[in-house]
Amino acid sequence: MCSLGTTKNVPHVVCVPYPAQGHINPMLNIAKLLHFKGGFHVTFVNTEYNHKRHLKARGPDSLNGLPTFRFETIPDGLPESNVDSTQDIPSLCESTRKTCLPHFKNLLSKLNDALDTPPVTCIVSDGVMSFTLDAAQELNIPQVLFWTTSACGFMCYAQYRQLMEKGLTPLKDWSDMTNGYLETPIDWVPGIKEIRLKDLPSFIRTTDPNDPMIEFMSRECQRAQKASAIILNTFDALEHDVLEAFSSIFPPIYSIGPLNLLLKDVTNEELNSIGSNLWKEDSKCLKWLNNKEPNTVVYVNFGSVTVMTKEQMIEFAWGLSNSKKPFLWVIRPDLVAGENAVLPLEFLEETKDRGLLSSWCLQGEVLAHSAIGGFLTHSGWNSTLESVCAGVPMICWPFFAEQQTNCRFCCNEWEIGLEIEDAKRDKIESLVKELLDGEKGKEMKAKALQWKKLAHNAASGPHGSSFMNLENLFRDVLL
Ligand code: UDX
Repeated sequence: MCSLGTTKNVPHVVCVPYPAQGHINPMLNIAKLLHFKGGFHVTFVNTEYNHKRHLKARGPDSLNGLPTFRFETIPDGLPESNVDSTQDIPSLCESTRKTCLPHFKNLLSKLNDALDTPPVTCIVSDGVMSFTLDAAQELNIPQVLFWTTSACGFMCYAQYRQLMEKGLTPLKDWSDMTNGYLETPIDWVPGIKEIRLKDLPSFIRTTDPNDPMIEFMSRECQRAQKASAIILNTFDALEHDVLEAFSSIFPPIYSIGPLNLLLKDVTNEELNSIGSNLWKEDSKCLKWLNNKEPNTVVYVNFGSVTVMTKEQMIEFAWGLSNSKKPFLWVIRPDLVAGENAVLPLEFLEETKDRGLLSSWCLQGEVLAHSAIGGFLTHSGWNSTLESVCAGVPMICWPFFAEQQTNCRFCCNEWEIGLEIEDAKRDKIESLVKELLDGEKGKEMKAKALQWKKLAHNAASGPHGSSFMNLENLFRDVLL
C-alpha cells in the first residue's frame, strides 16, 4: 500500500475508459486499485464531452484529482452536443476508433515531457478502445485491455466472426426475430454449454451484412490478441468454465472482480471521494429506504444507455402499481426514446405512499440496503455484478449488447434471475410478486446469498482468487 508524492520514479499508468457510464465506473475502480495497491501514478483519460458532464453533475471541483491521480481529456470526434443528450453507441464506437489515436499520442507525449510527472510505463484501456495498442507499441510499454463485460459476454462477442461464417448472422429478414429462428441452439461456444442465438450479444439482430457493430466488435476482439494481458471484472467461481476456455484463445486473462469489493479496504478518503457519475445523484433514495422493512422493496433501474418507448414505460408503471409492492424506480431524464418521461397521473396518485421516483441514485449503496428485496434490471454487467455482491435476486429485462447473455446466465446458470420477455403489465406484476413473495423468489434469494459469499471470498486476501489475480497482474505485467 502506498501513498505517493509526485516523484519521477514511480510507475505511471494511463487509464482510458470507453466514454460511457457502464465503462467509466469499473475503469475508475481499476485506476483506484492501481493507485492504492500498486503505488501507480494515474492519469485517467475522459472524453471532453464526458468531462463536461461530470463537472455538471458533481460540481466544478469534482475532477481536480490528487497530485498523483490526474484527469486529462481527449476529444471523442463527435460533433458538439448538448451535455444531456443520449449517447449514440454505434456512432461513438466508430468515432473513437477513427479519431482518437492522434489525440491520445499527443497526450502521451505531453505526459512524457512534463517535468513533474513520471514517464508513462503502461496503459490500461477499455477493450473497445483498442486504438491505444498502437500507441503502447510505439512506446514499447505493456498494454492491458479491460473488457468491462462478463466473461460469458466477451466469449460470445469473440464468436461473431464464426457466426457470420456459419451464416447465423445477419438475419435473412426481420421475420427471423419472431419465427423461432432466434431459438436456434448454439453448442460450440467454448466454455458455454447451453445457449441460444437469442442469448448472444444483441448486435447479431441485424439484416445488414456489413453491420457496423458486428464489424466493430469482431475487430476489437481480434485486436485483443495483441494485448499484454486482459482484465475482466468477474470472479473465478462465477464464470469458471468460460474463464478456463479463454486460456487457449486470448493473451493471459486476469479476472479481478468484483472490483468494488477489492476496493473495500481502501482507506484513502480523498481517493474514495473521486466519483464517476455523469448524472447528479439523488441522496433521498437512501433516506427513503431507511423507513422500509427488510427485503420488501423492488429497485428498478435500467442503467445509463437503455431507452424504452412511452408504451413500455406505462406497462412497467402499471405492473409495479398492480403488484402492490413498495418500489424505488430510477428514471433517467432520457429513458424514454425521443421525449421526456411522463407517467400517468393515476399511477402517481395510486403509488404515492409506496413508490419513490428518482432520476439517478448511488446504486451500489441502494443495492446494499437491507430494504431491497429484488432488482428489476436491464442486465448491464455492472448492475448484475453489483446485485450479486449485495445478494439481491433480479428480474431481467435485457436491452442490448451482451445484456442478453448476462440475463441467460443469471436465469439459467446462477439461478438468481427471472426474465421478462415482453414488457406487459400482467407479466411484470406477477414476476415482482414472485420475486418478493413466491417460492421461486425465496430460492433465488438463497442462491443470491451464496453467490454474494463467493464474491466476497474472491475479493478477500490473501487467498481470494481475484485478490491473488490482481497481485499476479502487478507482478507479471504492470510493475
Ligand atoms: C452497459 C453495460 O455495461 C453493458 O451491458 C454494455 O456493454 C454497455 O454498457 P449500462 O447500460 O450503463 O452499461 O449498465 P451497467 O453496466 O449496469 O452500468 C451502469 C452503472 O451505472 C453501474 O455501475 C451502476 O451502479 C451505475 N448507476 C446506474 C448508478 O450509479 N446510478 C443509477 O441510478 C444507475
